[in-house]
This record gives sequence, C-alpha cells and structure tokens, in this order.
Amino acid sequence: MEKRVYIRTYGCQMNERESESLAAMLGDSGYEMVGEEESADIILLNTCSVREQAEAKAIGKSNLISRGKNREKLVGIIGCMAQNLADILPKKSPNTRLIVGPDRIEKVPEYLDQLLRDSNRRIIDTEMGAIDPHFAAARDEKKVKTSMFVSIMRGCNMGCAYCIVPKTRGPERYRPMEEIVDEIRWLAERGTKEVTLLGQIVNNYGTHRLPYVNGKSPFVQLLEKIQQIGGIRRIRFLSPHPKGFRSDLIDAYQNLPKLCPQVHLPLQSGSDAVLRTMKRPYGGEQFLAIVAALREKIPTIGLSTDIIVGFPGEMETDFEKTCDFFDKVKFDMAFIFKYSARPGTAAERLGDPIPREVKEVRNQILLEKVERYSRRYNELAVGKVKKVLVESWAKRGQRRLEGFSPERKKVIFAGTEDLIGRTVDVLIESCTTATLFGKMI
Ligand code: SAH
Ligand code: SF4
Ligand code: F3S
Repeated sequence: MEKRVYIRTYGCQMNERESESLAAMLGDSGYEMVGEEESADIILLNTCSVREQAEAKAIGKSNLISRGKNREKLVGIIGCMAQNLADILPKKSPNTRLIVGPDRIEKVPEYLDQLLRDSNRRIIDTEMGAIDPHFAAARDEKKVKTSMFVSIMRGCNMGCAYCIVPKTRGPERYRPMEEIVDEIRWLAERGTKEVTLLGQIVNNYGTHRLPYVNGKSPFVQLLEKIQQIGGIRRIRFLSPHPKGFRSDLIDAYQNLPKLCPQVHLPLQSGSDAVLRTMKRPYGGEQFLAIVAALREKIPTIGLSTDIIVGFPGEMETDFEKTCDFFDKVKFDMAFIFKYSARPGTAAERLGDPIPREVKEVRNQILLEKVERYSRRYNELAVGKVKKVLVESWAKRGQRRLEGFSPERKKVIFAGTEDLIGRTVDVLIESCTTATLFGKMI
C-alpha cells in the first residue's frame, strides 16, 4: 500500500520551496502526500534554527507526534535544525528515525524506502555538497500556481555575527542561469505569472563565478533573462543585502518593467556601532543612499525590512537610532526579531546580556511604528487604481478574490473564479494595516 506522507514546514520561504520539491520527488517515488498529520504514516518536519524558539517548537512537535496514538508513525526531522543539532537530536527526540540536513533533502525518498524496510534503523545525513539539479527544479505539475518561488542559490558567505545560516546551509553555491531560466519557462507554460527568486543573499548570485557583463552583475543579468520570458508578468526576489545593492540593480527597477516596485532590504539595526558588532558590512548612511536612489526612480516603491532588537551591546541610544532610522525611512512593513543567541555563531561569546523585558519593550515600540507606517502607506493607495495579480479566493470568502498589488500589498475584492491568474484594475476603497479592499473597474 502507498505510504502517506505529511510535511510540516517551519522557517523561511527557502524551506517552503524545498518542502515543495521534496513532496514532488516523494510523489514520483510512489508516496502519497497528505495535507494533515492524522492520516499520514510518515511525518517530516522541515525545520528552522534561526532562533532558539524555532528549534524548541520543532523538537516539542516531534516528541508530541511520537507519543500516544501516533506512535506508529515514522518521524523525520529535516532542514536546518537537522543540520545544526544532528549530534543531540537522537537524544532530544528519541523516536525520530530520519535526520537530514538541507543539502541532502533529495535523498529523503531513498532513505524512507530504507527505513520502511528496516524498522530498527535510524539514518542521519548532514553531508554538504553541490546543489542537486533534479531536486532544485523538482515540481508537482498539479501544484503550479499563479505565483511561485524559485531558488537560485544555496548557502551564505556573509557571516553575520548572530546568524546560524552559514552553519546550517554552508557556503554559497549557485544554480546555472540556464537551469533557472528553463525552470521559469516551464512554470510560465503551466500558468505561472509571478516568480519570486530565493536566496539567502540573492543579489550575491554568481559572485566570483560568473562575470560582469556591461557593468551588470550576474544577478541583474539573470533578471534581464527572466524579463524576456513570455507569460511571466512579475518578478520579485528575497532577500537582497545592502552590500551589493549597486546602481545596476537600482537601474533595473527602471529598465525591467516586470521587476515589481518592492524591496525587502534587511537593515537589522539603525546604529552603526551595532551593525559593526553584528559584522554587517555597511552603515546607516549607505543604506539611506540605496533607499534614496530607489525612491528617486520609484517614489512609491514598497520597502520592508528585518530588525533585530536586543543584540548584545545594544544600548538605549543605539535603539533610539534604530527608531529614528525607522521614522526617516518609514518602512511599510518590517519583521522585528528579539535577539536569540545561537551556539556556534560569532556572537555566542558576547552572551545574551540584554534582559528579556528590555527586548520586549523595544520590540513593542518598533511594532507600533510598523503598524503606523504600514497603515499610512496603505492609506495612500485609497482612491487609487492598483494593478492586481489575482491569486486565489480570499480566505474568508463570500465570493471575494485575493491578489497582490505591484508593491505586494494584499488586495481583496469581489470577483469570479476565471479572474485567478489574471491582472485586473482595482479601485482601492479602504484599508487596514495589512490589506487593501476595493472593487474591480
Ligand atoms: N539571509 C536571510 C536571513 C535569514 S534569517 C535574509 O536576509 O533574509 C531572517 C532574519 O532573521 C534576519 O534578517 C534577521 O533579522 C533574523 N535573525 C537571524 N538570526 C537571528 C538571531 N540569532 N536572533 C534573532 N533574529 C535573527
Ligand atoms: Fe530558513 Fe535560515 Fe531558518 Fe534555515 S535557519 S529555515 S535558512 S530562516
Ligand atoms: Fe544570515 Fe547574514 Fe547570511 S543574516 S543568512 S549570515 S547575510
């Protein structure tokens, strides 16, 4: 009988995409994918290590599954935490029989076959190596949607002091440009209209491997190639780094009509002193210059960011600089993270001296700013017409559709199913901090 597999994904978009690839490969290997754990024989947790809480959650979950009526299920932990905690996971999560790092997920179907044959075995694989081209492009044709993620690279060379990613995902490796373009063409032929390119630092794509051409980085060359693909209407990417956000990329916002007017550019802190201890190789001025250059080209460009509060050594004055920075740039969206010390990172030796309550206060102050500025940004759209790429029915239905503006703001409006996958004009009538509401015109 076909074994049923449920994959639960934690962490970033990269993990989401990898879970998707794995599901496609498992489907090809004769497994049946299911959408909830109750009916599954095998449960795979694709995990994240970026904060301690993310790890604690996944370990808790794995232990929960292996108790009670779920005891018969085969549990596997894959992804970043499998890589990071491979030596202690067998103890922390004794019933987990498969532990596979992000570089070896393509082996999971084969390993499951082995585990099903021999119920006394446990397999641990945390090798790192080249990107498996078959895995990187694996897709379930039935799951192709209007907007899709495309991974263009793996790993990270930056070594920010707080970050576990270089440990869990290793050094940067890039997929060949032709392979990426072929994959996007394949998606476009099946109805995809928008692609979001994924990499830890996407704008590093091809560094020291592929040449600059006419002053353009390999990443911008890739964007230009995707611009040429018929059927694709929108291009986005996650996440760029301020270092390497040069004029060729800024110009691309003007030169490439499909490149959406939206950037997620992680700042981390508005204090140069903190950025230095974080080993982020830029200062506030440099960041502001990028923002100014982008806004000069596209005044309404969507700008979001990541901030860490409570990094070791962040004094009240440093935090105030972050607040001032926020008021200056007025990001229309931001993810605020409370610092979590990660064993094995450069910042580990600095300890975690900022009290939890202080982190909480700083977090709240910034969240209020996020709320204020995202509402303000959305209010500017009210009364205007937005080009909305329709993705699906809205969650709380009543025949309402959900799509996204070029700036990637969610737009909800009444419409019919045939509009899914199409770009329509919507007059925005009202908004909340997170959503625009309007009617089709
Ligand atoms: N390269 C990715 C980073 C992935 S981690 C990117 O640029 O998007 C996503 C975010 O998590 C980081 O930008 C950072 O703000 C946050 N983060 C990373 N390590 C952290 C830690 N130890 N504690 C708290 N937040 C962290
Ligand atoms: Fe993604 Fe980083 Fe978490 Fe891994 S550790 S899942 S790369 S956010
Ligand atoms: Fe992490 Fe910094 Fe790289 S946040 S993924 S080390 S750029």
